[in-house]
Amino acid sequence: MRIADFDLERYFARWEFASRYLLCASDVQGYPMGDLLALADDETRAMWTDLRLGYTESTGHPLLRAEIASLYATIESDEVLTFAGAEEGLFCLVNVLVGPGDHVIATWPGYQSLYEIARSVGADVTLYELREETGWSLDLDLLRRQVTPTTKLIVVNAPHNPTGMLPDRATYDGLVAIAAEAGVYLLVDEVYRGLEFDETDRLPAGADATSLGISLGVMSKSFAMAGLRIGWLASHDRELLARVAAFKDYTTICSSGPSEILAIIALRARVQVLARSRGIVLGNVALLDAFFARWSDAFEWVRPRAGSIGYPRLTVPGITIDDWAARLVEAEGVLILPASRFGDPSEHFRVGFGRVDLPVGLARLEAFAERTLR
Ligand SMILES: Cc1ncc(COP(=O)(O)O)c(C=O)c1O
Repeated sequence: MRIADFDLERYFARWEFASRYLLCASDVQGYPMGDLLALADDETRAMWTDLRLGYTESTGHPLLRAEIASLYATIESDEVLTFAGAEEGLFCLVNVLVGPGDHVIATWPGYQSLYEIARSVGADVTLYELREETGWSLDLDLLRRQVTPTTKLIVVNAPHNPTGMLPDRATYDGLVAIAAEAGVYLLVDEVYRGLEFDETDRLPAGADATSLGISLGVMSKSFAMAGLRIGWLASHDRELLARVAAFKDYTTICSSGPSEILAIIALRARVQVLARSRGIVLGNVALLDAFFARWSDAFEWVRPRAGSIGYPRLTVPGITIDDWAARLVEAEGVLILPASRFGDPSEHFRVGFGRVDLPVGLARLEAFAERTLR
């Protein structure tokens, strides 16, 4: 196969470990291993200590699949498949589900794999654009117009990377209805689910919402454990999952045993784990709100409703975000992610607020803004 470079990952490859303050990371500050092990119950502590480092079950540890299933209202353990991160789940699913002649619709700007993998297998991809003017909301009329007789899959990421958009319930129900009426698969990338600022805004998962709904989840974001590389797909379509499982024989075959046990511990302690993440995110977003209020003459800020990232826009005439971001990282070691990395020619940039050093990074960014924007 041939696939275009993943622009965002190439940018991170250059800068992630070479800049001091990652003000655009999408994950929440990694959970400390010792703290996680302290949350183990008797069963998982014994599993950890007695673990043999052999191959694991390809579909995922049965207890892990059970814990993942319990995140959903209607999903059974055998309607869950685990992967090395959400990325592998997406790769396997799209390779199995679509091919030449199939039409795929995907939210944009967005995480590149959500549309690039479909392109790489020869599908015809339509980008479903979110716009700042409408608060990044899902435009259901636009989606209705985009669906064609060959549409096989609609991909929606909510809470959304990079805007922090979370549809309201009526809009989400409308989305589900459009997919169901058209008889197309609806993949909901829910890797930021659990980080709704107002918990009553949490939406039904895609896999629960409709029979052709597929949920994509991961330990990386809301659960703050990107290093585990444990992700999953959940769906009532067992026949589809069986085909995806067979595809996985050509990628990782099975998950890492230690990661599976650690993920079980974390999911059993999800209340504490998610509370920590929400605490970090909510504290940081308040600082960003205050910053953007002070700098409303230089930045436009549509406040996210969920997740750990947002997508402000630099509005100072004569200064491009690509140039400003490059000077910022050189001068202050603060990394932001310009829109161009999403293939978006606008002056937006992604800001991440899941890291505990955000106050320092933001202070440095503000000092730089004082020198360069006023
Ligand atoms: C929307 C979205 N989906 C999927 C992924 C992939 O998650 P992971 O890297 O943990 O596999 C990411 C990671 O940034 C993401 O933002």
